[in-house]
Amino acid sequence: MNRSFPTTRLRRLRQSSFIREMVQEHRLHQSDLIWPLFVIEGEAIIEPIASMAGVNRYSIDKLILQAQEAVRLGISAIAIFPKIDAALKDSAGTLATDENNLVCRAVRAVKAACPELGVICDVALDPFTDHGHDGLLEGHKILNDETVAVLCRQALVQAKAGCDIIAPSDMMDGRIGAIRAALDAEGYEDVMILSYAAKYASAYYGPFRDAVGAGKKLGGDGKKTYQMNPANKDEALAEIALDISEGADMIMVKPGMPYLDVLQAAKAAFGVPSFAYQVSGEYAMLRNAIDAGLVSEEAIMESLLSFKRAGADGILTYFAPFIASQMVKE
Ligand code: PBG
Repeated sequence: MNRSFPTTRLRRLRQSSFIREMVQEHRLHQSDLIWPLFVIEGEAIIEPIASMAGVNRYSIDKLILQAQEAVRLGISAIAIFPKIDAALKDSAGTLATDENNLVCRAVRAVKAACPELGVICDVALDPFTDHGHDGLLEGHKILNDETVAVLCRQALVQAKAGCDIIAPSDMMDGRIGAIRAALDAEGYEDVMILSYAAKYASAYYGPFRDAVGAGKKLGGDGKKTYQMNPANKDEALAEIALDISEGADMIMVKPGMPYLDVLQAAKAAFGVPSFAYQVSGEYAMLRNAIDAGLVSEEAIMESLLSFKRAGADGILTYFAPFIASQMVKE
């Protein structure tokens, strides 16, 4: 391209809103959105989460109303995260594989009320373990293969409950292949897998751990022996390549905005449906800055467009209902 001033004036295409919109390269649509929702035991409960202004935990009856709202707003899917009573946790995360646990009951209720809404479940033990790790512990060591065996059973109870998309977020080696095989062996070959393929050991998960009541006791290396070093990018591509070869239908990069380069590289390298998770810490930073009057609400759309620009096919974001209701109004 050989363009030069004054024949070329790039500002010509910015002079009014019709032309700015006409030449807009990327757009967000409600169907790009996945809304993470927190569920708790009980009835008629809407419990605000202190570290995430505007985000609540819902009892199942109230969760259904949120799911109906998601459908009304044109949001594609919700991701369900449980806050388990501390008394029900143990070191093996036993409740994770119980087909009547909170997650499974929530999935059945949501699918009964809103069959057309996509339902995604996290596969990882952290909401269920008393130590807050995603896997089984032996001393200070997270056991890989033993954990994978449990994750397969966790995925199966979720699939049986009606979950459409299984989303392993634990970062154990080999779990995608094992979960795919376990699902297929039980007749769940149509259940999809969205792998948290490149998941970093990030400080941005703080508010989430508060929301699900996990992680206060992690100590030591935290989750660094399984989640990735934030300094690495080649390794992210290696993780994603493996997960695709093991049968992941879709991959995710997490967190979102600090890892846009990884998302862009992954989309370019593999061309598979790729998702970004704008995690709890990103949400809290933006929400608090907006509430303090430091940045305008437009920062939300700007942050979400950055994912589209980087190549995201969809975005998990706690802003999903807010931004979708803006789009519905337009
Ligand atoms: C569980 C899980 C985490 C998140 C999603 N699934 C936390 C973690 O790995 O410690 C974080 C989501 C967020 O911060 O919004 N493995």
